[in-house]
Amino acid sequence: MSAATNRPVPSGQAVVEAKDLQRVYEIRRGFMRAPDHLQAVGGVSFSVHAGKTLAVVGESGCGKSTLARMVSLIEMPSAGQLRIKGVDAVSASHHERAGLRKAVQLVFQNPYGSLNPRKKIGAILEAPLEINTTLSAAERAEKARAMLAMVGLRPEHYDRYPHMFSGGQRQRIAIARALMLNPALVVADEPVSALDVSIQAQVLNLLADLQQTLGLAYLFISHDLGVVRHIAHDVLVMYLGHAVEQGEKNALFTRPLHPYTQALLASTPGLAGSTTIKHRIVLKGELPSPLNPPTGCVFSTRCPHVTERCRAERPVLREVADRLVACHYAENFLTA
Ligand SMILES: Nc1ncnc2c1ncn2[C@@H]1O[C@H](COP(=O)(O)OP(=O)(O)OP(=O)(O)O)[C@@H](O)[C@H]1O
Ligand SMILES: [Mg+2]
Repeated sequence: MSAATNRPVPSGQAVVEAKDLQRVYEIRRGFMRAPDHLQAVGGVSFSVHAGKTLAVVGESGCGKSTLARMVSLIEMPSAGQLRIKGVDAVSASHHERAGLRKAVQLVFQNPYGSLNPRKKIGAILEAPLEINTTLSAAERAEKARAMLAMVGLRPEHYDRYPHMFSGGQRQRIAIARALMLNPALVVADEPVSALDVSIQAQVLNLLADLQQTLGLAYLFISHDLGVVRHIAHDVLVMYLGHAVEQGEKNALFTRPLHPYTQALLASTPGLAGSTTIKHRIVLKGELPSPLNPPTGCVFSTRCPHVTERCRAERPVLREVADRLVACHYAENFLTA
């Protein structure tokens, strides 16, 4: 690991900083046709500090996993800046990027698919150490056992196979594996969506405890605002690849200023009553194709407050009160 990437993050510096991050996919439809371009992420900016969680929310296909793949350096952005622990990840050398990859670890939605069924838990946890460190077998085993305890599993679990665990326990194993190399940032893509509600709360509590103990930064991806409420410090709401509202969780939950955030909150059981939004907003119509996004505001085809201006002119993400909102009429909702 290079000196630049294994040093601790200086206080005040963001663990991850993204500016105008973009990802465009080329869609080929046959030999003779020019490829189409699908903008999966269309210019998103954010930062996450140590000990903090930024939640990214939005409907299926809005670009959450694409964002996760860029931040965890699985895919490079088409444009924009990405700094991890202060290092420019886009222009980093191969060697530096390898170091950054250790600093950012992923936890996926499906704990069944992400654990090798033929390996015992001990071996699964030790694999990252075997590849990336010079620790002896005994030292690796010691670290794996300590990590098992840290995620609430028992010492005897070390010798068991993934199929012997429940979904919640498997997600604990996936979290343990992600932490073996002492990352600064954990990118969790729908980490509790496949779990029963009662188990979800346990895994969310574990993530919150680990964050406190280890000072981890989280990029937490979820379509479920009920889940986000428990874990986020800041929230980024995405729609068709764009950030439509971004800010501190409590501010955004109690007084959502973008009609899309309002609609998401209104449709989340248990949350509708805790906002300033008095009437239920039901999202009309289908989500537009990202290959053919609406001109003007991306949300204009489904917005209950749409005007001609919205159809013609795309609102920029701008500061309104205590956050960022991309709506021409955000001020109207300050007093709603
Ligand atoms: N490798 C790819 N090639 C082409 N298009 C892609 C690729 N990956 C994602 N997309 C498209 O980019 C858009 C965003 O996809 P993404 O998986 O990031 O959404 P998401 O918010 O994670 O959705 P979900 O909630 O269903 O997981 C979608 O329209 C998707 O079809
Ligand atoms: Mg996804």
